[in-house]
Amino acid sequence: MARLTNKICVITGAARGIGLAIAQAFHAEGAQVILTDIDAVEGEAAAAALGARFFPLDVADEAAWDALAREVPRADVVVNNAGITGLGDHTHPHDPENTPLSEWRRVHQINLDGTFLGCRFAIRAMKATGKGSIINMSSRSGLVGIPGAAAYASSKAAIRNHTKSVALYCAGQGWAIRCNSIHPAAIMTPIWEQMIAGAPNRDAALAAMVADTPLRRFGRPDEVAALALLLASDEATYITGSELDIDGGLLAGSAASPK
Ligand SMILES: NC(=O)c1ccc[n+]([C@@H]2O[C@H](COP(=O)([O-])OP(=O)(O)OC[C@H]3O[C@@H](n4cnc5c(N)ncnc54)[C@H](O)[C@@H]3O)[C@@H](O)[C@H]2O)c1
Repeated sequence: MARLTNKICVITGAARGIGLAIAQAFHAEGAQVILTDIDAVEGEAAAAALGARFFPLDVADEAAWDALAREVPRADVVVNNAGITGLGDHTHPHDPENTPLSEWRRVHQINLDGTFLGCRFAIRAMKATGKGSIINMSSRSGLVGIPGAAAYASSKAAIRNHTKSVALYCAGQGWAIRCNSIHPAAIMTPIWEQMIAGAPNRDAALAAMVADTPLRRFGRPDEVAALALLLASDEATYITGSELDIDGGLLAGSAASPK
Protein backbone atom coordinates (compact mmCIF):
# COMPACT_ATOMS: atom_id res chain seq x y z
CA MET A 1 0.00 0.00 0.00
CA ALA A 2 1.46 3.37 -1.01
CA ARG A 3 1.94 5.83 1.84
CA LEU A 4 -0.13 8.72 0.44
CA THR A 5 -2.84 6.93 -1.54
CA ASN A 6 -5.73 9.30 -2.39
CA LYS A 7 -4.28 12.16 -0.35
CA ILE A 8 -4.62 15.58 -1.96
CA CYS A 9 -1.25 17.32 -1.52
CA VAL A 10 -0.57 20.98 -2.34
CA ILE A 11 3.08 22.02 -2.61
CA THR A 12 4.32 25.60 -3.08
CA GLY A 13 7.51 26.44 -4.94
CA ALA A 14 7.28 23.05 -6.62
CA ALA A 15 8.69 23.95 -10.04
CA ARG A 16 12.22 22.97 -9.07
CA GLY A 17 14.59 22.17 -6.22
CA ILE A 18 13.27 20.78 -2.94
CA GLY A 19 9.62 21.47 -3.82
CA LEU A 20 9.87 19.46 -7.03
CA ALA A 21 11.59 16.58 -5.21
CA ILE A 22 8.73 16.55 -2.68
CA ALA A 23 6.17 16.53 -5.50
CA GLN A 24 7.95 13.58 -7.13
CA ALA A 25 8.18 11.65 -3.86
CA PHE A 26 4.51 12.25 -2.99
CA HIS A 27 3.40 11.31 -6.51
CA ALA A 28 5.39 8.06 -6.28
CA GLU A 29 3.48 7.23 -3.08
CA GLY A 30 0.07 7.55 -4.70
CA ALA A 31 -0.81 11.16 -3.80
CA GLN A 32 -2.89 13.49 -5.94
CA VAL A 33 -0.25 16.20 -6.16
CA ILE A 34 -0.99 19.82 -7.01
CA LEU A 35 2.20 21.65 -7.84
CA THR A 36 2.12 25.42 -7.42
CA ASP A 37 4.76 28.05 -8.18
CA ILE A 38 5.18 31.68 -9.20
CA ASP A 39 7.04 30.42 -12.28
CA ALA A 40 4.21 29.11 -14.44
CA VAL A 41 6.43 27.98 -17.32
CA GLU A 42 8.75 25.80 -15.24
CA GLY A 43 5.87 24.73 -13.00
CA GLU A 44 3.64 23.61 -15.89
CA ALA A 45 6.53 21.64 -17.37
CA ALA A 46 7.35 19.96 -14.06
CA ALA A 47 3.71 19.02 -13.48
CA ALA A 48 3.29 17.71 -17.03
CA ALA A 49 6.40 15.52 -16.65
CA LEU A 50 4.86 14.04 -13.53
CA GLY A 51 1.32 13.76 -14.87
CA ALA A 52 0.13 16.04 -12.06
CA ARG A 53 -1.84 19.30 -11.81
CA PHE A 54 -0.28 22.76 -11.75
CA PHE A 55 -1.75 25.92 -10.30
CA PRO A 56 0.06 29.29 -10.65
CA LEU A 57 0.52 30.79 -7.19
CA ASP A 58 2.57 33.64 -5.81
CA VAL A 59 2.54 32.69 -2.12
CA ALA A 60 2.62 36.35 -1.04
CA ASP A 61 -0.59 37.11 -2.96
CA GLU A 62 -3.67 36.63 -0.76
CA ALA A 63 -6.04 36.75 -3.73
CA ALA A 64 -4.12 33.93 -5.41
CA TRP A 65 -4.60 31.76 -2.30
CA ASP A 66 -8.32 32.56 -2.38
CA ALA A 67 -8.41 31.44 -6.02
CA LEU A 68 -6.61 28.22 -5.08
CA ALA A 69 -9.12 27.63 -2.28
CA ARG A 70 -11.99 27.87 -4.77
CA GLU A 71 -10.20 25.39 -7.06
CA VAL A 72 -8.99 23.05 -4.30
CA PRO A 73 -11.46 23.26 -1.40
CA ARG A 74 -10.14 20.14 0.34
CA ALA A 75 -6.55 19.10 1.03
CA ASP A 76 -4.86 16.48 3.16
CA VAL A 77 -1.27 17.75 3.00
CA VAL A 78 0.06 21.27 2.39
CA VAL A 79 3.77 21.91 2.04
CA ASN A 80 4.73 25.57 2.41
CA ASN A 81 8.06 25.27 0.63
CA ALA A 82 8.41 28.39 -1.56
CA GLY A 83 11.09 30.74 -0.30
CA ILE A 84 13.79 33.17 -1.35
CA THR A 85 17.03 34.30 0.26
CA GLY A 86 16.63 37.79 -1.18
CA LEU A 87 20.30 37.73 -2.21
CA GLY A 88 19.54 37.04 -5.86
CA ASP A 89 19.95 40.49 -7.31
CA HIS A 90 23.15 41.27 -5.39
CA THR A 91 22.30 44.96 -5.33
CA HIS A 92 22.51 45.42 -1.57
CA PRO A 93 24.10 43.55 1.32
CA HIS A 94 21.59 41.85 3.61
CA ASP A 95 23.38 42.49 6.89
CA PRO A 96 21.60 44.20 9.82
CA GLU A 97 23.24 47.55 9.05
CA ASN A 98 22.70 47.83 5.31
CA THR A 99 19.57 45.88 4.34
CA PRO A 100 17.08 48.21 2.63
CA LEU A 101 13.65 48.10 4.32
CA SER A 102 12.04 47.27 0.98
CA GLU A 103 14.19 44.12 0.63
CA TRP A 104 13.65 43.14 4.28
CA ARG A 105 9.92 43.36 3.64
CA ARG A 106 10.07 41.48 0.33
CA VAL A 107 11.83 38.51 1.93
CA HIS A 108 9.31 38.43 4.78
CA GLN A 109 6.36 38.79 2.41
CA ILE A 110 7.34 35.71 0.45
CA ASN A 111 8.80 33.52 3.20
CA LEU A 112 6.70 34.48 6.22
CA ASP A 113 3.46 35.96 4.85
CA GLY A 114 3.48 33.17 2.25
CA THR A 115 3.71 30.55 4.99
CA PHE A 116 1.03 32.26 7.10
CA LEU A 117 -1.33 32.33 4.11
CA GLY A 118 -0.45 28.72 3.27
CA CYS A 119 -1.21 27.57 6.81
CA ARG A 120 -4.51 29.47 6.80
CA PHE A 121 -5.44 27.90 3.47
CA ALA A 122 -4.49 24.48 4.83
CA ILE A 123 -6.52 24.75 8.03
CA ARG A 124 -9.60 25.80 6.09
CA ALA A 125 -9.06 22.99 3.55
CA MET A 126 -8.53 20.34 6.25
CA LYS A 127 -11.01 21.14 8.98
CA ALA A 128 -13.97 19.46 7.25
CA THR A 129 -12.20 16.11 7.63
CA GLY A 130 -10.50 17.25 10.84
CA LYS A 131 -7.14 15.81 9.88
CA GLY A 132 -4.13 16.59 7.77
CA SER A 133 -0.47 17.51 7.72
CA ILE A 134 1.01 20.98 7.23
CA ILE A 135 4.74 21.07 6.54
CA ASN A 136 6.58 24.39 6.67
CA MET A 137 10.02 24.74 5.12
CA SER A 138 12.11 26.70 7.57
CA SER A 139 15.91 26.41 7.60
CA ARG A 140 18.94 25.98 9.77
CA SER A 141 19.05 29.75 9.25
CA GLY A 142 15.90 30.00 11.34
CA LEU A 143 17.76 28.62 14.35
CA VAL A 144 21.00 30.62 14.28
CA GLY A 145 21.96 34.17 13.34
CA ILE A 146 23.10 34.74 9.76
CA PRO A 147 24.71 38.21 9.58
CA GLY A 148 24.87 38.27 5.77
CA ALA A 149 21.28 37.09 5.24
CA ALA A 150 19.51 38.70 8.18
CA ALA A 151 16.09 39.05 6.55
CA TYR A 152 16.12 35.42 5.41
CA ALA A 153 17.16 34.19 8.87
CA SER A 154 14.49 36.32 10.58
CA SER A 155 11.77 35.08 8.25
CA LYS A 156 12.78 31.46 8.76
CA ALA A 157 12.84 31.88 12.55
CA ALA A 158 9.32 33.29 12.41
CA ILE A 159 8.19 30.29 10.33
CA ARG A 160 9.50 28.00 13.07
CA ASN A 161 7.46 29.86 15.67
CA HIS A 162 4.28 30.14 13.60
CA THR A 163 4.43 26.39 12.98
CA LYS A 164 4.07 25.81 16.70
CA SER A 165 1.15 28.27 16.98
CA VAL A 166 -0.63 26.46 14.16
CA ALA A 167 0.05 23.06 15.73
CA LEU A 168 -1.32 24.15 19.11
CA TYR A 169 -4.31 25.95 17.58
CA CYS A 170 -5.35 22.87 15.59
CA ALA A 171 -4.82 20.52 18.53
CA GLY A 172 -6.87 22.90 20.68
CA GLN A 173 -9.76 22.67 18.22
CA GLY A 174 -9.71 18.90 18.62
CA TRP A 175 -8.47 18.36 15.06
CA ALA A 176 -5.81 15.86 14.01
CA ILE A 177 -4.28 18.55 11.84
CA ARG A 178 -0.54 18.46 12.45
CA CYS A 179 1.97 21.17 11.66
CA ASN A 180 5.75 20.76 11.68
CA SER A 181 8.78 22.58 10.34
CA ILE A 182 11.74 21.18 8.43
CA HIS A 183 15.14 22.84 8.88
CA PRO A 184 17.48 21.99 6.01
CA ALA A 185 21.00 23.27 5.49
CA ALA A 186 23.11 23.13 2.35
CA ILE A 187 20.82 21.19 0.02
CA MET A 188 22.11 21.33 -3.55
CA THR A 189 19.48 23.27 -5.53
CA PRO A 190 19.49 26.37 -7.77
CA ILE A 191 19.19 28.56 -4.64
CA TRP A 192 22.95 28.08 -4.13
CA GLU A 193 23.84 29.50 -7.52
CA GLN A 194 22.97 32.95 -6.15
CA MET A 195 25.34 32.42 -3.22
CA ILE A 196 28.34 31.57 -5.37
CA ALA A 197 27.62 33.85 -8.31
CA GLY A 198 30.83 35.63 -9.24
CA ALA A 199 33.13 33.21 -7.38
CA PRO A 200 36.26 32.59 -9.48
CA ASN A 201 36.28 28.83 -8.76
CA ARG A 202 32.79 27.31 -8.53
CA ASP A 203 33.92 23.95 -7.10
CA ALA A 204 36.13 25.57 -4.47
CA ALA A 205 33.31 27.94 -3.49
CA LEU A 206 30.89 25.01 -3.10
CA ALA A 207 33.43 22.95 -1.10
CA ALA A 208 33.98 25.92 1.22
CA MET A 209 30.23 26.07 1.87
CA VAL A 210 30.21 22.58 3.40
CA ALA A 211 33.68 22.62 4.99
CA ASP A 212 32.08 22.87 8.47
CA THR A 213 29.35 20.30 7.77
CA PRO A 214 30.22 17.07 9.63
CA LEU A 215 29.11 14.90 6.67
CA ARG A 216 31.29 17.10 4.38
CA ARG A 217 28.84 17.26 1.49
CA PHE A 218 25.72 18.99 0.31
CA GLY A 219 22.41 17.26 0.95
CA ARG A 220 20.13 16.25 -1.90
CA PRO A 221 16.55 17.41 -2.49
CA ASP A 222 15.33 13.80 -2.38
CA GLU A 223 16.76 13.47 1.15
CA VAL A 224 14.57 16.40 2.26
CA ALA A 225 11.64 14.92 0.35
CA ALA A 226 11.99 11.68 2.35
CA LEU A 227 11.51 13.65 5.56
CA ALA A 228 8.52 15.54 4.14
CA LEU A 229 7.05 12.20 3.07
CA LEU A 230 7.31 10.87 6.62
CA LEU A 231 5.57 13.98 8.02
CA ALA A 232 2.87 13.80 5.35
CA SER A 233 2.13 10.13 5.96
CA ASP A 234 0.04 8.44 8.63
CA GLU A 235 3.27 7.12 10.15
CA ALA A 236 3.71 10.57 11.74
CA THR A 237 0.31 10.98 13.39
CA TYR A 238 1.85 11.77 16.81
CA ILE A 239 4.32 14.36 15.50
CA THR A 240 3.10 17.95 15.71
CA GLY A 241 4.70 21.27 16.61
CA SER A 242 8.10 19.70 16.00
CA GLU A 243 11.15 20.97 14.17
CA LEU A 244 13.22 18.48 12.23
CA ASP A 245 16.79 19.33 11.24
CA ILE A 246 18.28 17.88 8.07
CA ASP A 247 21.74 19.36 7.88
CA GLY A 248 24.47 16.73 7.72
CA GLY A 249 25.09 17.18 11.45
CA LEU A 250 25.80 20.92 11.30
CA LEU A 251 23.63 21.88 14.27
CA ALA A 252 24.88 18.99 16.38
CA GLY A 253 28.08 20.81 17.26
CA SER A 254 30.15 23.87 16.61
CA ALA A 255 32.69 24.82 13.97
CA ALA A 256 35.04 25.74 16.85
CA SER A 257 37.05 22.72 18.03
CA PRO A 258 36.48 21.71 21.65
CA LYS A 259 39.06 22.99 24.15
N1 LIG B 1 18.60 24.58 -0.65
C1 LIG B 1 18.94 24.75 0.62
O1 LIG B 1 20.12 24.55 1.01
C2 LIG B 1 17.93 25.19 1.63
C3 LIG B 1 18.34 25.24 2.97
C4 LIG B 1 17.40 25.65 3.92
C5 LIG B 1 16.11 25.97 3.55
N2 LIG B 1 15.76 25.90 2.24
C6 LIG B 1 14.39 26.28 1.90
O2 LIG B 1 13.80 25.29 1.08
C7 LIG B 1 12.84 25.90 0.22
C8 LIG B 1 13.10 25.50 -1.22
O3 LIG B 1 14.42 25.91 -1.54
P1 LIG B 1 15.19 25.45 -2.85
O4 LIG B 1 16.60 25.30 -2.45
O5 LIG B 1 14.48 24.33 -3.51
O6 LIG B 1 15.05 26.80 -3.70
P2 LIG B 1 14.89 27.06 -5.28
O7 LIG B 1 15.26 28.48 -5.47
O8 LIG B 1 15.62 26.02 -6.06
O9 LIG B 1 13.33 26.85 -5.51
C9 LIG B 1 12.40 27.74 -4.96
C10 LIG B 1 11.11 27.68 -5.75
O10 LIG B 1 10.21 28.63 -5.15
C11 LIG B 1 9.62 29.40 -6.18
N3 LIG B 1 9.22 30.70 -5.69
C12 LIG B 1 9.99 31.78 -5.41
N4 LIG B 1 9.24 32.81 -5.02
C13 LIG B 1 7.95 32.38 -5.02
C14 LIG B 1 6.71 32.98 -4.70
N5 LIG B 1 6.62 34.26 -4.32
N6 LIG B 1 5.59 32.23 -4.80
C15 LIG B 1 5.66 30.93 -5.20
N7 LIG B 1 6.79 30.32 -5.54
C16 LIG B 1 7.93 31.03 -5.44
C17 LIG B 1 10.67 29.49 -7.27
O11 LIG B 1 10.11 29.80 -8.54
C18 LIG B 1 11.29 28.09 -7.21
O12 LIG B 1 10.60 27.18 -8.05
C19 LIG B 1 12.95 27.42 0.47
O13 LIG B 1 11.96 27.84 1.39
C20 LIG B 1 14.32 27.56 1.08
O14 LIG B 1 14.45 28.71 1.89
C21 LIG B 1 16.64 25.53 1.27
